Order: sequence, then structure tokens, then C-alpha cells
Amino acid sequence: MRRYLIAGNWKMNKTIKEACELVNKLVAELKDIKEIDIAIFPPFTALSETYKIIKETNISLGAQNMWYEPKGAYTGETSPAFIVDVGCKYVIVGHSERRKYFQEKDELINRKVKSAIEWNLIPIVCVGETLEQREKGETNKVIEYEINELDGIDFSKIVLAYEPIWAIGTGKTATPETAEETHKFIRDLIQKKYSPEIASNLCILYGGSAKPDNIEALIRKPDIDGALVGGASLEANSFIEMIKKARSV
Ligand code: PGA
Repeated sequence: MRRYLIAGNWKMNKTIKEACELVNKLVAELKDIKEIDIAIFPPFTALSETYKIIKETNISLGAQNMWYEPKGAYTGETSPAFIVDVGCKYVIVGHSERRKYFQEKDELINRKVKSAIEWNLIPIVCVGETLEQREKGETNKVIEYEINELDGIDFSKIVLAYEPIWAIGTGKTATPETAEETHKFIRDLIQKKYSPEIASNLCILYGGSAKPDNIEALIRKPDIDGALVGGASLEANSFIEMIKKARSV
């Protein structure tokens, strides 16, 4: 049985003090919510302090990225071992901003996902098409390619996030119908490639301008299991509202 997951990706926002203020508000308002899973992804510098606040609560911690080796001469990178050490349960891998600004390719993403699973982290693996690809009618082809590149990965150990790139940070959300079409395509593909059981247990999040106004309609769709939320997770009120709405669905 799949559970809803609402995950807040803070991206490169919040100092330690700001992060702790936000987390304190979330804990106060969300502590009794048991029906859905909640996770936050503060920047690396705030993971340790925010973990102290959420440690005994229903809110889980995640990192926005990781390297695939556990240690070594990789200046500026963060090991899966450190992410586990600081209290993370999740890690985002293959976000479109990593693909675009840091030239992360599918092969690297594959290694990171495998390493995350080895470290008992739950990778949230992002896939999605650009506006140009959508307009050319290539959405399914792009998604299928990205999923095929996740070769050798145990899909019972990951969360997928469908994030149409044209909807990220733009205020343009995919309509629930458009999003559901792709979510269903993904689930059918996983069923064909792996098994009906893996497909029906796979949590597939939607990401791209998810906000309090559209969260309910999105997750009412049968194949949408929650959201990876950027902008709307930076404000306590909007993130809290989204979680309360998701709980009531
Ligand atoms: P957004 O970001 O909600 O600000 O569009 C989503 C994401 O990048 O995960």
C-alpha cells in the first residue's frame, strides 16, 4: 500500500538560523500527522542542526545531492556515509538543476542511485522533459530513456519524481490530467520492465510548481503519490497547508 509523501526541496536557500526557525514551525504544526510521510531537504550546512529538531518527530530529513564514493579525494563533494551520519533518510538524485548546471549525466546518476541504496538511503530520482521536448511530443520517449538508464537498480528501493522541467520554479504547473498521464505511463513502463508488484508499490511524486492551490487535485489522481515541492516549501504556512490538504485526501 503506497503512502503519500510530501517532500520539501529547499534548494540553495536558508542559513542555519533560518532553517531552524522554519523547522520549528513545521514541527509545531505537523507533529500529529501520521497518515502521510513528510520530508525536508535543507542545504547541507543546515542538516545537522535541523536534524536535532526533527529527530524524534514524524518529519524525515534528506540531502539534495551526494557523491557515490564513501570517501576519498573528491574536493567539495559529500559522501553517502556523511549523509547517513547526519541523520538523513532520503537523498535527491538527478534533479534537473543538477543535470543542467552541473552537467550530471545518466551514468553518474545511476552510480549515485546504486550507492544511495547500498547505504540504505532512499533516493528520490528525478526524471522529466524540457518544454521543447514536450512540444515535439517527445515526453514519453524522454521519460522512457531516463528510466532505462536506471539500469540494474532495484525499483522497490527508490522513489521516482516526475518533474517536467518547464514547470519547475516557473509557476506553470502541469495540469493534474497532464501529470497523471505521465505518471501512468511511468507506472505501466515499470510494470512491463519489472513486475506488477514493483509498479504498484512504487511511490511516484510530482514536482514543478506544486503549491497549496493545486496539491489536492494532483494527488487525487490515482498514480500521483505526493509532491517534491520547491518554492512552496520555503514558507512554513504554505508547506503546512499543503501537508494538511494532502492528509485530508
Ligand atoms: P518548484 O520546484 O516547486 O519551485 O517548481 C520543484 C523542484 O525543483 O523540485
